Parts: sequence; structure tokens; C-alpha cells
Amino acid sequence: MLQQYDKRNNDIQIWVGDQLFARNEAKVSVFDSTVQGGDAVWEGVRIYDGKIFCLDKHLNRLMASAKAMAFAHIPTKAFIVDALMQTLKANNQKDETHVRLTLSRGLKITSGMDPRLNQFGSTLIIVAEWKPPVYPPSIKLITASQRRNSPMCLDSKIHHNNLINNILAKIEANFAGVDAAIMLDIYGFVSEANGVNIFMIKDGTVFTSHTDACLPGITRATVIEICKSNHLPIVERNVSITEFYSADEVFVTGTMGELTAVSEIDGRKIDQQHNESILQKLKEYFKKKTETEGTILNF
Ligand SMILES: Cc1ncc(COP(=O)(O)O)c(C=O)c1O
Repeated sequence: MLQQYDKRNNDIQIWVGDQLFARNEAKVSVFDSTVQGGDAVWEGVRIYDGKIFCLDKHLNRLMASAKAMAFAHIPTKAFIVDALMQTLKANNQKDETHVRLTLSRGLKITSGMDPRLNQFGSTLIIVAEWKPPVYPPSIKLITASQRRNSPMCLDSKIHHNNLINNILAKIEANFAGVDAAIMLDIYGFVSEANGVNIFMIKDGTVFTSHTDACLPGITRATVIEICKSNHLPIVERNVSITEFYSADEVFVTGTMGELTAVSEIDGRKIDQQHNESILQKLKEYFKKKTETEGTILNF
């Protein structure tokens, strides 16, 4: 699955630092920390019908990541919300929009790893693109040889820009001709796919891995919340890839593609055993949430 260019994005305005720029003028310095070391944190946020879905949860995760990375001069939530609203207003984006919100450690006085070289505070970048949910109705996966970080190495709870291990896993998927790759944790249990969390359904129970070695996704949390409030059994535990092969249904979750069915893993077909699809129900509940919840746009 390869995203396609949407011509509606030709003339979008992009926020960098404290102002908007035309797409072609929006730039960061070669001395910016993002360029120098992937030293930045980010969030993907989606706009549905005049509302920003789960905005506060995304901002909390962004703040927590920036704090863990000991960024200086982190903008306030109010500043970020205002910048986001201004960006969406400039582009007249009220629906079908995905926002990549990045906070870089900022500009360095000279190249080098030391954060003390960053003497201008962090840089906020807001890229709001026309982008309806990007996945096809179902996707195929392989298991990557690349493992997902454990907190022993680099805590996956920091949503940082240095996603090289996930990118290497995606390259494996590309060479295998499938859509994405499942990453195992260092003990061999399933952690997540390279850019999305993963769930399986077996005999009426929904399972997903702990967040020990994966991003605690906001869509993942929403699905868990939906299960709990609708009395659908949900279990968070170590799940092995063998269990996924014989699941009734498998799906991945993320802001970019919402809930997407998985039709095959490592060549094993995922055959829905029951007439009633629990995934279909979850998708309906999720859709209702995106229709009824969110921070209302102020323009
Ligand atoms: C590695 C990884 N896993 C999972 C997700 C899904 O998280 P969310 O549901 O918060 O979009 C993302 C999204 O950025 C991600 O980068």
C-alpha cells in the first residue's frame, strides 16, 4: 500500500515556529535537531467533520514525549491549539485532514549531539494535509526480523522521530510485497506493526499486546474503551505470532488508517470463523465516536 499524492495539498499553508508559510516556503534549518539526529517528537491527529479527534490525548502524549526528551521551552498546549486552529483555518480544512504535529528540539548553534547546543528553544511544525484514511479494506502482513525496542534500549512510549527500527521493518514488508510488517518484542511476542498497533479476535474475545514494547496508541486505547463499554471481552497480554495465525479476525489501529482488517500474515490466511464480525461492530462504534466526539474547530 503506497499513499498517493493528493493535488489538494499543492497550496497548503504549513506552520513552522510561530508562523504560517506556503508549502514551498516552509523549511527548517540544516542545523535543526530533526535533521541532525531525528531529535524530535510528533503526533498524528485527524479532523472529522469540523472536530479534532482526541486532541487532548494527543497533546498530552506530545508533552510527555517532549518532557522525557528534556526539551527546553516547550510551547504551551494553548499555543499549540491556537497554531493548529490557525493552520486548519488557513487551509479551510474541516474534514478528511490528517495533521502531522512535530516538535523538534530546535536549532543548534553548530552541528553536534549535545542538547546544550540548542539555544533557541523547540520548533513547532504543523503539516495539515488533505488525507482521508489511507488503508485499503484489508492488508497483508509479514513478521519482520527487525525487533521493536524494549524500554531496555529505547522506550517506545516516547513518540520520537527516530523510527529507524520501524522503517527497517517496513522495508522488509516492501521487499516481501505486502503492506506492513509485524514487529516482535525482544522476547518474541508480537508488539505492533511498523506504524500501527495490532489486535486479534478469537472465540469472541479481543486480544492485544501490552504496551511494554509498542507505542500506546490513542486509537488502540479508544478500541479498548469501546470494548469495555460495550461488554466485549478484551484482554491485554503477551500474544505470540502463532496465535495470530489462527485468529478469527486480526486488525490494526492508528490515526492514519483507523481500524483496518488483516487478511494474511506470513502467507497464512486469516479466515473469519464466525458469521458475525466483531471487527465490523468495533468499526461502527469507532465511526460513531468520530462523528460525535472531538474538539470543535473555532472557524
Ligand atoms: C509506531 C506506531 N505505532 C502505533 C501508532 C498508532 O498510534 P495512534 O493510534 O495514536 O495514531 C503510531 C502512530 O503514530 C506509530 O507511529
